[in-house]
Amino acid sequence: NALPNANYIRDRIRTVADWPQAGVMFRDITPLLQDKKTFRLLVDIFVHRYMDQKLDVVAGIDARGFILGAVVAYELNLGFVPIRKKGKLPFDTIAEEYELEYGSATVELHADACQAGDRVLLIDDLVATGGTMIAAANLLKRLGAEVVEAAAIVDLPELGGSKLVRDQHIELFTVCD
Ligand code: PRP
Ligand code: ADE
Ligand code: MG
Repeated sequence: NALPNANYIRDRIRTVADWPQAGVMFRDITPLLQDKKTFRLLVDIFVHRYMDQKLDVVAGIDARGFILGAVVAYELNLGFVPIRKKGKLPFDTIAEEYELEYGSATVELHADACQAGDRVLLIDDLVATGGTMIAAANLLKRLGAEVVEAAAIVDLPELGGSKLVRDQHIELFTVCD
């Protein structure tokens, strides 16, 4: 990856073997978030990448996508829209079901979360099988929004998710793999 600080960020992502179940190499971003210098470097990569993209809103995916997504939205002077796990949003919702590396899940979005034609940046922490990112992008598209880019800190390319995302014609940016 050509990003100048990608190695610095990668070094602060901890791999925990066999969590939450045998065979999974879990990429834990908490050391990265905890370190003030690394967290700022990370946020700044996203802010500089999107500052001139004329975006309307940032959408973040429950739960780990909220941490980066909300900060990036604030720094870009944009609003933040949560895409949540099933049963958490109180108003009218639309839903998409998807498969995870370790189970299945449903994500939901408020029906009034964005307007047709809105230019949306979609943020999560990590792309594994790609199911979460694709389901979230589909929710936004169903409201008529344009997903300008989907972005994450980490790609796990060996799981094939980033290819699946791009096969769906969703632009995808990740900081490290
Ligand atoms: C993790 C991760 C991504 C997703 C990636 O979230 O934060 O959102 O899995 O997997 P995929 O590419 O195979 O869909 P998880 O649902 O485990 O929970 P959390 O964000 O609430 O911690
Ligand atoms: N979500 C899905 N797979 C994951 C992994 N290997 N590490 C962290 N989060 C994940
Ligand atoms: Mg998640």
